[in-house]
Order: sequence, then C-alpha cells, then structure tokens
Amino acid sequence: MISLAHERASRRGVEADFRVADIREPLPFEDAQFDIVFTATALHYVDDIAAFMKEAACVMKPGARLVASVLHPMSTAQFPLAESEQVEVPDPWEGWYFGSPLRSIETPWLGFGAVSTEGRRIFCHHHTLCDYFSALKSASLSITDMLEPAPSAEFALKNASRYDQAIRVPVFLIFKAEKIT
Ligand SMILES: C[S@@+](CC[C@H](N)C(=O)[O-])C[C@H]1O[C@@H](n2cnc3c(N)ncnc32)[C@H](O)[C@@H]1O
Repeated sequence: MISLAHERASRRGVEADFRVADIREPLPFEDAQFDIVFTATALHYVDDIAAFMKEAACVMKPGARLVASVLHPMSTAQFPLAESEQVEVPDPWEGWYFGSPLRSIETPWLGFGAVSTEGRRIFCHHHTLCDYFSALKSASLSITDMLEPAPSAEFALKNASRYDQAIRVPVFLIFKAEKIT
C-alpha cells in the first residue's frame, strides 16, 4: 500500500512522507505539529479509542482539525461477538448495541474492484456513539460536524443487495473535531 501511495503521489507531483505505525501505540511524531489528522475507517480496529484521541490531540496544533470516518456504531452493533466471549447470545442474532465491544466478522475482500467470494475472519471493536464522543471530549477535541452518509440511488443500481442493507442500517459515521486551544 505504501509503494502504491508513493507511486500515486509522484504521478500527481505531490511531495509526501509516508510512515507505517501502530495507532494503538504512542504516535512517532513531535507534539503540536499537524494542522489536520485524518483517519478513514480504522478506529473500530482500536480497543482504546480514548488513548488514540489523546495521542492525536498531542500531535495537533491548537485549533487543528481531526477528520475521522468509522464504521457506524449501528453497523458494528450487528457484528457477532467474538467467539471467545463466554456470554449467552440471543438467537436469532439481531445485533447487540450495548454488548461486549470485541466483535468478529467474516468479510469479503472488496479491494480494487474485485469482490472475493471467500470471506476473511477479522476482529474489530464496536464503540457506541457515546464512546466516540467521550473519547473526543476527554482529549479536548470538540465536535464541529457529523455526517451519516446515505447510500445513493446510483449505488442501488450497482449493488442492489448491499444498497438494501445500507438504506436500513447506516454503514459510515464521519465526524470532524477541533482541538480546543
Ligand atoms: C478498512 S481499512 C481502511 C484503509 C484506508 N484508510 C481506506 O480508507 O481505504 C482499515 C485499515 O486500518 C489499518 N489498521 C488496523 N489496525 C491498525 C493499527 N492498530 N494501527 C494502524 N493501522 C491499523 C489496517 O491496516 C487497514 O489498512
């Protein structure tokens, strides 16, 4: 992915420094050096989002913005509990908003236009809307905007069954926050 990013940046004449880091660990940057932190559909793989928000806020300049998209809590609430969770699960499974955060799902590979038929089992963390809000608040990040994008009519024509799911349960939540000075 990094070599693809390099390729795309140089094709567009953009100078960029790409680094790989684990966002569950302290970020490898000096404090207060970024105007914007952007993260796309990755925070639901992080257990302790409050720790991540504190790290993000540390590297942001005062007044800097954080823009994040995550799988919508209504969507991750429907992911099955991870098998190791020894609790009685409702049958049939209809989701569990306030259930244990560790979830395990089988997901097809959607990359590069080719949808695989074979699923991959992955783990992720279901965070409620208030979990995200509290994590931002505890890091002095103030929400300035929030979006729940609805699937377009164009998407309905492309993939009717996924559209049918996405029109009933929101897939993405996007929020914008500002570091309070
Ligand atoms: C659904 S993909 C999104 C990829 C990309 N941001 C995008 O929008 O196309 C989730 C990404 O989160 C990354 N990820 C998951 N856990 C992570 C962690 N602890 N630290 C850094 N990246 C992580 C994965 O490697 C993967 O690239």
